[in-house]
Amino acid sequence: LRVVSGIQPSGALHLGNYLGAVKQFIEFQERGEALYFIADLHALTSVRDGARLRQLSGDLALDLLALGVDPARAVLFRQSAIPEVTELAWILSTVWPASSVLRGHAYKDKTRRGLAASVGLLTYPVLMAADILSFEADLVPVGSDQAQHLELARDAALKLNQAYVPGFDADDPARPGLVRLPRAFMVDDRATVPGTDGRKMSKSYGNTLELFAPERELEKRILSMKTDSSPIDAAKPLDAPLLALLVALAGPSEAEEHRRSFAGGGVGYAAYKRRLFELFLGVFAKARERRRELAADPAVVAQLLAAGAERARQLAQPTLVRVRNAVGLS
Ligand code: TYM
Repeated sequence: LRVVSGIQPSGALHLGNYLGAVKQFIEFQERGEALYFIADLHALTSVRDGARLRQLSGDLALDLLALGVDPARAVLFRQSAIPEVTELAWILSTVWPASSVLRGHAYKDKTRRGLAASVGLLTYPVLMAADILSFEADLVPVGSDQAQHLELARDAALKLNQAYVPGFDADDPARPGLVRLPRAFMVDDRATVPGTDGRKMSKSYGNTLELFAPERELEKRILSMKTDSSPIDAAKPLDAPLLALLVALAGPSEAEEHRRSFAGGGVGYAAYKRRLFELFLGVFAKARERRRELAADPAVVAQLLAAGAERARQLAQPTLVRVRNAVGLS
């Protein structure tokens, strides 16, 4: 079982990234061969400052290690260290119908929010497909916002196989094709984690709870979450982001208790916020501590990433050899 996933170093890692992706990264590294990467090439579509991107990439490596990505079990690397991925992206782009990227909703959403409408932003899903296909991923743990990108990756694999493997039939295991159609994509079917304002938690909305922010800042963020004006005794709306976040971080029985008390009333928002802050610090206390230790020794992290890149290249090379041969580049 090969598990592959990436995160963009486009801002500080937040609770949505953790619950939607990183938590699954940790679980899957026990069960199969895991490859996790810092999607720095993708981040170029939004970060236009070299020093900042470098900093964010280093931070993300520390974050992932602190949260439990274990270099003894998982290959951790920077996307940009694997030239095979960019090469495959180009090849995929030549068989991929332009109409299919033009339909992508991420491009429309992101340009609407003010990101530069670059060619790279438009073809973002092509590079993401190359990430997945070059490593022959079976499973891709991501949050539900990435579902369309995963469908597109399947589609890209199909297009490449249809273009270069005569008589290719996706349902015929005897004809494996040039790149494997990922057998199963794991899209976390839990709802998207809401931000402090109720919209999807996202770096670009400024509504995140950053996993490694200073305590004071987190406290302020949580205590100033928008809530309605329900009095203490009244029932509270069950779709409040505050409840969703409490439920996400509390154990099952406490989560049930919060659901019940939201429905029944009797507890004020301030008390829930205090509890959320406490839970947050509790859940991430170890990781926060571990991150401080790791940050003290940047050379170790750099070395880990270099070793990870070397291993990842080895894993991508057989795919690229096959593809280069089939398309006539070698
Ligand atoms: P990115 O960097 O935006 O987000 C990283 C991961 O966090 C998940 N996520 C969320 N999950 C639940 N609720 C939220 N509010 C929330 N916000 C973010 C995302 O679903 C994602 O899993 N395109 C990808 C990076 C990427 C990639 C890949 C992923 C590049 N190549 C290949 C998998 C495979 C992205 O922008 O994620």
